[in-house]
Amino acid sequence: MGWQQTALSKKLGLRYPIIQGPFGGGLSSTALAASVANAGGLGSFGAHHLAPAAIVELVSTLRQHTDKPFNINLWVSDHDPGALSMTVEAYQQHLRQMMPLYQRLDIEPPSQPDSFSHRFEEQVQAVLDARPPVFSFVYGIPSADIIEQCKRRDIFLLGTATTVKEALALQDAGVDAVVATGFEAGGHRVSFIDEAETVLTGTISLIPQVVDALHIPVIAAGGIADARGIAAALVLGAQGVQIGTAFLACNESATIAAHKALLRSGKVHNTVLSRRMTGRLARFIPNHALRELEALPQLPFPLQSWFYSPIKRASAARDDAEYFSLYASQSVSLIKHHQAAALLRDLVAGVDRIYSSM
Ligand SMILES: Cc1cc2nc3c(=O)[nH]c(=O)nc-3n(C[C@H](O)[C@H](O)[C@H](O)COP(=O)(O)O)c2cc1C
Repeated sequence: MGWQQTALSKKLGLRYPIIQGPFGGGLSSTALAASVANAGGLGSFGAHHLAPAAIVELVSTLRQHTDKPFNINLWVSDHDPGALSMTVEAYQQHLRQMMPLYQRLDIEPPSQPDSFSHRFEEQVQAVLDARPPVFSFVYGIPSADIIEQCKRRDIFLLGTATTVKEALALQDAGVDAVVATGFEAGGHRVSFIDEAETVLTGTISLIPQVVDALHIPVIAAGGIADARGIAAALVLGAQGVQIGTAFLACNESATIAAHKALLRSGKVHNTVLSRRMTGRLARFIPNHALRELEALPQLPFPLQSWFYSPIKRASAARDDAEYFSLYASQSVSLIKHHQAAALLRDLVAGVDRIYSSM
């Protein structure tokens, strides 16, 4: 059908203009990315938590599992102001406030780190070396030099915007396409010019405004979980869609079983935006962890994440949805599928039906 072959799907050599959104923090999997790629969409892997050598290895593993295009994703900005300068005294004070929670959950408190995670500049060098077909990024714009080096290596560049201003800045910097994300989306609100809380535009408003402002393809993300959402995004002028939570709920993703079961339960009708799990604004299904963290002082990213991460690890080991980070889209109750390829197949068939009845 005509809708399947947009400028974006043609440029990337995709059967369908449907992207499985990347998940950071260990929730992506090669099985998910490869199965979406092999089924005709663009599979993605969120790699912002990985060391440069692991990124090179990841790209080689993905190449072994698919000969179709796939996407590697990084976070350009890897810490917020104040996060790298916490004194020993301030660390100990925050630890004292967290201790009752750690003790109640029988969790070893985290020791103060020497440094935080892996720096974007080193990770992006690994991306350049490994040359994935697509490189997407959030929380900013890489330097002109990095963008130029990606172009020389034929790496398709996907920037992510939450406002028209961000989308224009990405286009000016030379990206090939922009993912425009409405505030319905699961995961982080990846604003990088204005404070995330001040730019909470929904997908149905954001997409046509970004489409009108840009001359490069726009991919719609946020709250799309079935064929109706895809058709609506295409009618609004998008050249493709990026779907996150509906793929996170599939067996192939790396989130915990209890999280998947909730996402597929059809019973969650409310999600909330909070900074309490990582220090950056993200959308979650409310649970005990979120409520308890709301009552404690908040630190900048990634310090807030550092203090929460032992709780996340322990709840993952126990498959405990009450203390895990339950990222989810506003459209979570529409989710039904257990298998990524079946989800993609049904999305495509559904959009075909909508288009043939128009
Ligand atoms: C658990 C989770 C983690 C995410 N991590 C990232 C990430 O690291 N990088 C990124 O570009 N997008 C990330 N996203 C956003 C998704 O790729 C996608 O754009 C978004 O989920 C689309 O909205 P939806 O959830 O309503 O489908 C994440 C989303 C979720 C649910």
